Amino acid sequence: MGKEAEKAPAELSPGEAKTELKRLAKEIARHDQLYHQKDAPEISDAEYDSLTKRNKAIEALFPSLKRTDSPSARVGAEPAAGFAKVRHLHPMLSLDNAFTREDVADFIGKIRRFLGRKDEADIELNVEPKIDGLSANLRYEDGKFTIGATRGDGTVGEDITANLKHVAGIPHTLKDPKPPKLIEIRGEVYFPHDAFFALNKEREKAGEPVFANPRNAAAGSVRQLDPTITKSRPLKFFAYAMGEVQGWHNEPKLHSEAIDRLKKWGFAVNPKTRVAKRLDDALELYDELAKERADLNYDIDGVVYKVNDLALQNRLGFVGRAPRWATAHKFPAEQAVTTLNDIAIQVGRTGALTPVAKLEPITVGGVVVSNATLHNEDEIARKDVRIGDKVIVQRAGDVIPQIVSVVDADRKGRGKPYKFPEKCPVCGSHAVREEGEVVRRCTGGLICPAQAMERLRHFVSRGAFDIEGLGYKHIEAFYQDDLVKTPADIFRLHRRRLELLDREGWGESSVKNLLDAIEARRTIPLDRFIYALGIRQVGEATAKLLARHYHSLEEWQASMLAAVKDREGAAYQDLNNIDQIGESVAGDILDFFDEKHNLEALKALAKELTVEQAQAIAATSSPVSGKTVVFTGALTKMTRDEAKARAETLGAKVASSVSKKTDYVIVGEDAGSKAAKAAELGVTMLSEDAWLELIGG
Ligand code: IVH
Repeated sequence: MGKEAEKAPAELSPGEAKTELKRLAKEIARHDQLYHQKDAPEISDAEYDSLTKRNKAIEALFPSLKRTDSPSARVGAEPAAGFAKVRHLHPMLSLDNAFTREDVADFIGKIRRFLGRKDEADIELNVEPKIDGLSANLRYEDGKFTIGATRGDGTVGEDITANLKHVAGIPHTLKDPKPPKLIEIRGEVYFPHDAFFALNKEREKAGEPVFANPRNAAAGSVRQLDPTITKSRPLKFFAYAMGEVQGWHNEPKLHSEAIDRLKKWGFAVNPKTRVAKRLDDALELYDELAKERADLNYDIDGVVYKVNDLALQNRLGFVGRAPRWATAHKFPAEQAVTTLNDIAIQVGRTGALTPVAKLEPITVGGVVVSNATLHNEDEIARKDVRIGDKVIVQRAGDVIPQIVSVVDADRKGRGKPYKFPEKCPVCGSHAVREEGEVVRRCTGGLICPAQAMERLRHFVSRGAFDIEGLGYKHIEAFYQDDLVKTPADIFRLHRRRLELLDREGWGESSVKNLLDAIEARRTIPLDRFIYALGIRQVGEATAKLLARHYHSLEEWQASMLAAVKDREGAAYQDLNNIDQIGESVAGDILDFFDEKHNLEALKALAKELTVEQAQAIAATSSPVSGKTVVFTGALTKMTRDEAKARAETLGAKVASSVSKKTDYVIVGEDAGSKAAKAAELGVTMLSEDAWLELIGG
C-alpha cells in the first residue's frame, strides 16, 4: 500500500490524489475480477466498500481528476461472459480432506465398516499427488476430443475447448484403434514453476500485473476468450480420473489400470502415482512426497488416496459431494508472522457475529493475506489475542487463513484484552449467546440489515437462484435503495422498471437483461429452492436429500409444519430418519418453520415461483425408484449402510419403521417386530436375495 493510503482524502495534495485514484482504480478492478469472474475474493465486502468509498470521497474533492476508468462509473465487473455452458455427463465432485494420520485411518475405517470388512483387512489404495491447479473435464467421442470444460459448479462448467487444445498432455485423438464410444477424462491443468516465474518477469517488465501464484496463472490463462493467449502460455495437464464412459473395450478393473490406459491413450499422468497395499505404505508415500514437494516443478498441496478396486469404488459411492472411496491428505499449513491491526465483526445471515482479524498484509505460501478468521469469542479469549499483537497466521490449501497464536505475549505496553461486543455492530440489537453455543448472535432478525442482506446474497448465490447479472454488489445496492428487501421482491422487480432505468449505469438493455435473467429463474428445482432459503446447516447436499425425500414443496412444507407441532411425532421421525440428517440439522429446519416471518417469506415466494418437483435422481428406470423400503434383521451380502446407500441411489426412500406407506420390507436373519408388523399390514416382504434380484444384483 502506498503512503497516500494512510492519509485522509482531505489531506491529499492534487498530485497524491491523482496517484491514489490510479491505485484505487487498479485495485478495485482487480477485486472486481477476483470476485465476479474468479470467485476468489481476497478481501471482505467491508474492505471492498471502504476502497470504493475512499475512491468516491477523493473524486468528490478533486472532480477534475476523475479517471475515465473510474470504479464509480462501473457496476461490478462484466460477467464472465463469452464462454458457453457445458453440462458434465457425470458430476465433478470434490474430495474430503484429511489433515492427520488419524483422519486417514478414520477414512479407511469407515470404508471397512461400510463394506463390512474386518478391522485389519487391507484396502489397496492408489496414491497420487494432489495437483494444485484447475480441474478440467474432457469429452472424447469415438476417440476424438470434442468438448473441454472447467469444473464450474460441478454440474455445469464453461466451454474452454479451444483453449485446452493448446495444453500439453491433452491428446486431440486417443491412441487406440478401439476407443470407448464416449468418455470423460478428468484432470488438472497447471502452470509449471519455471514458466510461471518467466511469465511474471516478462509481465513485470511490461508493467502488467503479475500473477500471485501458478494456480492463478493457470486459471487466468485457460479462461481467456482469445485462445492464442492460452497458446502462448506453456500450460500442462495431468489426467487422474474418468467420468462417464460408454462403450468400453476391455474395461479396466483397477484405478491403476485406468491410469495406465490414460497414459497409453496419450495423456500425461503423474509419474509419482503409486499403488499401496496397505495404509502404512500409503502414509510412507505421503512422507516421501512431502519431502520431494519443494523440488517438483509444479504445486501440490497434498496426496490423494483412492480405493484401487473400481468395483469397490462403485459400491462405496458418494456422500453429498464427495466420494467415500477417496480422500485428500493435505500437507501441513504454511505460516507467517504479522501484526494484528484490528478485529472486525461480521454479521452473517443467521445473525452470527464472526470476528475477523485485520492483518498487516503478508505473503503466506504465495498468497497475500490481509484477513484471517478468529472463529469466535472463546477462541479470542483462549489465545488471548489483542489488537496490536504480532500473530502467527496459517494457511492450508483453500481453507480460510487462521490465527494460530500470539508471539509477543510478554511485550510491554500490550493492549487490553479484547472485549467481544454484546450488541450487533450493524443494527445495535442485543447479541446473545445461547447456552452451550460458542456463537453470539444478533437478535435483530430481519430488522438487522446485515442479516437481511446476507440472506438475499445467499438467495441469489451460485448453488441457489444463481440469477445471471444479479451479483452480490447489485443486491446490496438494491437493498439500500429499497428496491429489494425480501427474496420475493426480486421477482417483483419488473414492476419497478422505471426506477431501475433511473439508476446510474443502467440502460434499456442492461435492465432488460436483468429482468430476463430473473424471469428465467421463475421456475426452479426444489433442491435449489430449499438451499436458497438459507436454513442453518442446510447446505446444497442436505437440500438435495430433502428434495429427494419429500419430492414437492407442498409435501415438505406440510410435513415440516406437522413436525413443528409435534417434535416427537411421525413427521419428525421421518425427517430425522433421512440418512445424514441428524437431530441437530432437523432442529434447525424446524426452528426455521417455527418463525412466522419465514412462513410469510415462503408464502410470498410461492406466489411468484414455480418450484419443480424433485425426480428420484439416478436410474428412474429402477423398479424401486420412488418406493419406500425398510430393512430389518441382519443382512449377509452387504452392511446395512451399504444397502441403504444403494437403495437411495436407485431412488428409493429408506424408512426405519414399517407403516401402510411402506412398499417393501427386506427381511434379513433374525428379523423381529418389524417383520411381524409388515405381516400384519400386508406389506410385501422380500428376502435379501430377492431384494438383490429386484435391484439387479
Ligand atoms: S480425484 C471424485 N485426483 O482436487 C474425485 N483430484 O479437492 C475427483 N485434484 O476437484 C477428484 N489432484 O481438481 C483427484 N490426483 C487427483 C487430484 C485431484 C488434484 C483436485 C481436483 C478436485 C479437487 C478436490
